[in-house]
Amino acid sequence: MREFWVRIVAAIAGTGVVLLALAFAWLQNPHPPAAAPAAAPPAAPAAALVEAGRAFYAAEGCAMCHAIAGEGNPRFPLDGVGARRDAAELRDWILATGTAAEALSARAVRMKQGYRALGEAELEALVAYMQSLTTPSLAP
Ligand code: HEC
Repeated sequence: MREFWVRIVAAIAGTGVVLLALAFAWLQNPHPPAAAPAAAPPAAPAAALVEAGRAFYAAEGCAMCHAIAGEGNPRFPLDGVGARRDAAELRDWILATGTAAEALSARAVRMKQGYRALGEAELEALVAYMQSLTTPSLAP
C-alpha cells in the first residue's frame, strides 16, 4: 500500500517537473508574432499611377506653363497643389471646366480644352500625379 502512494506522488511530481520545464521553455524562447504583420499598404498601384501621370505631364507639355520643383515655367508653379485642391478641382483645372474655366485666361482655356480629348486613364493618372504634389514650393 505504501509503495502505491509513493508511485502516485512520484508521478505527480514528475508531471509537475515536465510542465514547469515546458512553461520555462515557452517563456524563454522568442514567440512568433501573434499575427503576420499587416500586408504592405496598397501603395503600389497608386505609385504606378503617379509615375504614369508624371510621364503624361511631360508628354502633354504642361511644363510649358507650369513648374514643379523648379523645373518648367516658373510663372505657374504646381508645387503643393495636391494639398490645396481635391481630385475634382484638379480635373477642372487640367481641363478648364467648372470654376477653373472662368478663372483661366482665354489662351489657357484653349490649351486646356485640348486635354479633354485625353483618355480617362490618362486623366486619372494626371490627377494622381497632381495629388502627389503635396510639398510646397521652396521658392519664396
Ligand atoms: C497654356 C498654359 C498652360 C498649360 C499648357 C497647362 N496649364 Fe495648367 N494652368 C495654367 C494657368 C494659367 C493656370 C492658373 C494658375 C494660377 O492661377 O495660379 C493653371 C492651373 C492649373 C492647375 C491648378 C493650379 C493651382 O495652383 O491651383 C493645375 C492642377 C494645372 N493647371 C494642371 C495642368 C496640367 C496637368 C497640365 C498639362 C496636362 C496643364 N496644367 C497645362 C496654364 C496652363
